Amino acid sequence: MKLLSTLLLTASLASAGYPPPPGPWTLGAWRPPTDNTSPMWFGRAIQANGSRFWLGKTPSAYCPAGISGLDCSLYPGDSTVFNGGNDTVFLNVAVPGGQQVYIAPDGALGYTPPHSTFKPDGSIVSGWVREISVAGGAPTVMGYNGRPILACPAGDGAVDVYQIYVKLAEADPKSGCISFQMRTYSAAGTVAWEY
Ligand SMILES: *[C@@H]1O[C@H](CO)[C@@H](O)[C@H](O)[C@H]1NC(C)=O
Ligand SMILES: *[C@@H]1O[C@H](CO)[C@@H](O)[C@H](O)[C@H]1NC(C)=O
Repeated sequence: MKLLSTLLLTASLASAGYPPPPGPWTLGAWRPPTDNTSPMWFGRAIQANGSRFWLGKTPSAYCPAGISGLDCSLYPGDSTVFNGGNDTVFLNVAVPGGQQVYIAPDGALGYTPPHSTFKPDGSIVSGWVREISVAGGAPTVMGYNGRPILACPAGDGAVDVYQIYVKLAEADPKSGCISFQMRTYSAAGTVAWEY
């Protein structure tokens, strides 16, 4: 028993410092079974839609038609791809200026619109850590300052749709939120002009 807890402690301490694989990545929710009623997720895709991030929505990828030299068939927009993860995180888009991921003051994970740096006053853009964990098959995990990551029911009658938050405050941002681990998975490249 003592040996086991020593091993577990060593494993959690050793999780810092393994550099993650370079290149773009997708983000997934990892939530092993906790009880018989709450959801379990094994890399369920986190998608960008309407400046916020979700489980259970499709990506709101967009490619403007009719621009000379812009071949939208290169941008199917069927997944949400990110880059960075060393302090700052961006959507892996082709649109000039890029799109940055931020944490809004209420903890909602958000991203800037195309051609704009707009984000709510007080939003946080830095502090992300993406690293290889030595625990459980060495996944590449992403976190913010050790804060819990939450999936909160989207409401409006939507079934199995959750909005992603970082728990910044003592109280959860909404009721019914559940925590999970964010894992990243290497992606081939740019799939969206913009989200
Ligand atoms: C993260 O960025 C810092 C500062 O630019 C750099 O020193 C460090 O090597 C980077 N870490 C990784 C894992 O790339
Ligand atoms: C955002 O998600 C909703 C729900 O999945 C979907 O109906 C909608 O098409 C998405 N928005 C865009 C712009 O794709």
